[in-house]
Amino acid sequence: MVFVKFLLATAGLLEIVHSAVLPGVKTVLVNNIVVPKTKSDFTKNNATAKWASGYPKEWGFEDFHYQLNIPDPEDNFNAVVTNDEKYLVITNGSYVEFIDLDKNATASGFIFQVPDKQFAVGLTVRPATQGGYDVFTGIGTYKYDTPNTTIRQHVGSDLKPVGQPIVYQGSIGAISKQGKLVSPYGYVYDLETTSNTPIATLKGQPDLTDFSFAPDGVHLASVSWHEETADLWNATSGEKIFSFPATKAQNWLTRFSPDGKYVAFALGSSNNTVQIYTLTNLTAAPIEIKGFNDWPRYLDWSPTSKQIAIGDDGRLRVYKVPSKEVTQIWQVDATNDYYTATEVTGISWLDNGNKITWQWRDGKYLYDFESNTEWLWTVSNEDHSWGPSAFYLLKKKGYAVTVDGDSTVRFWKI
Ligand SMILES: *[C@@H]1O[C@H](CO)[C@@H](O)[C@H](O)[C@H]1NC(C)=O
Ligand SMILES: *[C@@H]1O[C@H](CO)[C@@H](O)[C@H](O)[C@H]1NC(C)=O
Ligand SMILES: *[C@@H]1O[C@H](CO)[C@@H](O)[C@H](O)[C@H]1NC(C)=O
Ligand SMILES: *[C@@H]1O[C@H](CO)[C@@H](O)[C@H](O)[C@H]1NC(C)=O
Ligand SMILES: *[C@@H]1O[C@H](CO)[C@@H](O)[C@H](O)[C@H]1NC(C)=O
Ligand SMILES: *[C@@H]1O[C@H](CO)[C@@H](O)[C@H](O)[C@H]1NC(C)=O
Ligand SMILES: *[C@@H]1O[C@H](CO)[C@@H](O)[C@H](O)[C@H]1NC(C)=O
Repeated sequence: MVFVKFLLATAGLLEIVHSAVLPGVKTVLVNNIVVPKTKSDFTKNNATAKWASGYPKEWGFEDFHYQLNIPDPEDNFNAVVTNDEKYLVITNGSYVEFIDLDKNATASGFIFQVPDKQFAVGLTVRPATQGGYDVFTGIGTYKYDTPNTTIRQHVGSDLKPVGQPIVYQGSIGAISKQGKLVSPYGYVYDLETTSNTPIATLKGQPDLTDFSFAPDGVHLASVSWHEETADLWNATSGEKIFSFPATKAQNWLTRFSPDGKYVAFALGSSNNTVQIYTLTNLTAAPIEIKGFNDWPRYLDWSPTSKQIAIGDDGRLRVYKVPSKEVTQIWQVDATNDYYTATEVTGISWLDNGNKITWQWRDGKYLYDFESNTEWLWTVSNEDHSWGPSAFYLLKKKGYAVTVDGDSTVRFWKI
């Protein structure tokens, strides 16, 4: 499941891109498209990644696309593909449409009950155990707000809304596989019920920034940016299990490895460190990865938990865990700090770890470890971008799906 996290609502989203050619970034012409030149671009047997046939590609050359209304920089567009790959769900903040990806046709549409003069922020769609889906959005007082409430609208198997939306306090901090939602207020809600009374409250911690559930759904890691803390909780009882040693840094993000063996913390301020603790020995010194350009704010564990991909300014690196050996590097070739000071975002291992995706500025990249092949979908000089971004792979259908910052969802046969 790919959750659209409140952390994505950073200033970068507001930027309107007018050119793919950036001063200070060296460029090359590939497939007649201007793309960033790389200092390093993945390797296999010492050979650099090769472009997939016909790539890079620019917006406008997709096989087909979906929009909800005519794209407008003032709109409030968002889209996700459900993790069963059955539906594309798109919204303009007040209306939600389910598109059946097998039939390639609209399956359902309904009005989202967002309070007057407030904004829907983000979109999360989760299959419900009783059938159908739960559609979540945050509610904020302005468009890129950090929402302080979340609404959940259930849709039945017929994709029609059932009942009134349920309102939770706080944004979505994390959702466990077992269906528990934790919000930054420290409230844990059970999504298997329709109750919005917390089943647990994380005790004595007011100001939390990010969360990650262990696969057991009980161990819950949190970090606080303001309080500079990192903690481990029992999500069932709300008791604190362990306080990690003070980092004296603005801790930004936490992620459990998929096997639950490790928990990673990303430290900001001037530390620019990723710490990795081992769950079976919390008091042992963490593995520390250092030397990032500014904050490492985006990372993803490989499905085997044996590798971690971490992004920083203009660079993506893959490390082995626990050895910290760097096995892959993608890095733009640039001379101008202003333009390289754009983080690699959207990092996600796909296809059982055979592929990895990342985003730099408005370019979405995909790399296949087995064939040493790379894809890139990017803006042209005429394109404008203002909204949220995401990437999905429809493995069975053989499509890459790019949710692009011009309120358009593009389908590319790969
Ligand atoms: C890659 O290059 C290095 C140094 O040039 C060499 O030692 C190594 O054997 C090469 N590996 C492969 C798989 O070709
Ligand atoms: C959202 O989309 C619906 C359906 O196309 C439309 O009726 C409505 O006016 C749109 N709302 C906004 C704010 O664009
Ligand atoms: C999906 O529908 C669109 C029109 O809405 C069409 O352009 C496109 O070719 C269709 N794709 C497939 C795979 O049928
Ligand atoms: C959310 O913000 C609004 C507007 O600032 C405020 O009225 C409301 O009480 C807040 N809700 C919570 C749960 O803090
Ligand atoms: C979590 O809390 C529950 C309820 O108090 C308890 O049964 C369980 O053993 C605790 N688990 C851990 C790992 O602390
Ligand atoms: C983070 O930086 C602060 C200030 O330099 C320092 O006191 C602290 O020990 C650092 N933490 C780590 C984990 O390196
Ligand atoms: C935990 O780590 C510490 C420090 O490395 C070590 O002294 C201790 O033996 C370890 N405990 C276990 C149970 O492995």
